[in-house]
Amino acid sequence: MSSYAQVNLKGKVAVITGASRGIGKAIATRLAEHGANLVLAARTQGPLDETVKHLKDKYGIDAIGIPTDVAKLDDLRNLVEKVKAKFKQIDILINVAGVSSQYLFHEQPIEEFEKLANTNYLGYVRLIRLVVPDMVTRKNGHIISVVSGSTLCDPIPRTFLTYSSLKMGLRAFLKGLFWEMREHNIKVTSLLPGVVASDLTDHLKDVAVEQRDRLMDPKAVADMVSFALSVPANACPLELAVINQLTTWTKPVIDYKQTQAK
Ligand SMILES: NC(=O)c1ccc[n+]([C@@H]2O[C@H](COP(=O)([O-])OP(=O)(O)OC[C@H]3O[C@@H](n4cnc5c(N)ncnc54)[C@H](OP(=O)(O)O)[C@@H]3O)[C@@H](O)[C@H]2O)c1
Repeated sequence: MSSYAQVNLKGKVAVITGASRGIGKAIATRLAEHGANLVLAARTQGPLDETVKHLKDKYGIDAIGIPTDVAKLDDLRNLVEKVKAKFKQIDILINVAGVSSQYLFHEQPIEEFEKLANTNYLGYVRLIRLVVPDMVTRKNGHIISVVSGSTLCDPIPRTFLTYSSLKMGLRAFLKGLFWEMREHNIKVTSLLPGVVASDLTDHLKDVAVEQRDRLMDPKAVADMVSFALSVPANACPLELAVINQLTTWTKPVIDYKQTQAK
């Protein structure tokens, strides 16, 4: 049980993308603890169904899983239609689904750029665009998006140039959206987590086994969500950052070694 027991979301409907594993799953679990009804989205049906069943059984909430590739506009349209058919409205949208990519830029496969942009940038922006008109009509809603603590680094970390620059674009978009949506009583919060233990960071090339305990638990990001949802109606955290206290690779991720020109 979290220390945010006072957050009561009974009767509210939350949509969470990337909810079958890692950070998204930790957030879904936390929202179930808060009593929200949930719509979970991810591409792979098996883990999605398992998460939905577990949360329904353990917390007695209503929940559905909708297989969705956030990189595909048609999938996002289908997601929103199915949520409205079942739950009528979306009170909270939590964008988490994202993929990582770690390459020295000159070695990065050129085909990766589109996938990264469609998932990590357009996946967020398009879904928000599909969800927000109803929120504007109802003058209510909260949009929470997992961005990245790497956007706090300047220059952005080596080997993450395309990933982090898209996250920077996303962060800029969300900051602007905060002010535009404020006029409609809609809250917009960006989360900037440091390095979190998940499947995504399992693939990082330079995280040595003995450094694993430096990674944050995904629950640290769920705590940010609970905090964002706990503040009074007349306030909204625009951005929340929680960065690892112990890490050798906050910036730049791979140490820079000047090679001698031949
Ligand atoms: N881990 C970190 O250190 C860290 C730090 C800062 C920010 N973030 C951000 O946090 C988010 C989640 O990261 P994570 O570490 O929890 O990753 P993860 O453990 O790899 O989980 C990713 C989740 O997103 C889903 N997903 C991936 N691509 C998708 C797509 N195209 N459409 C729908 N769902 C998709 C995955 O399910 P399927 O594969 O079945 O679709 C899974 O549920 C990402 O946006 C990442 O950039 C992570």
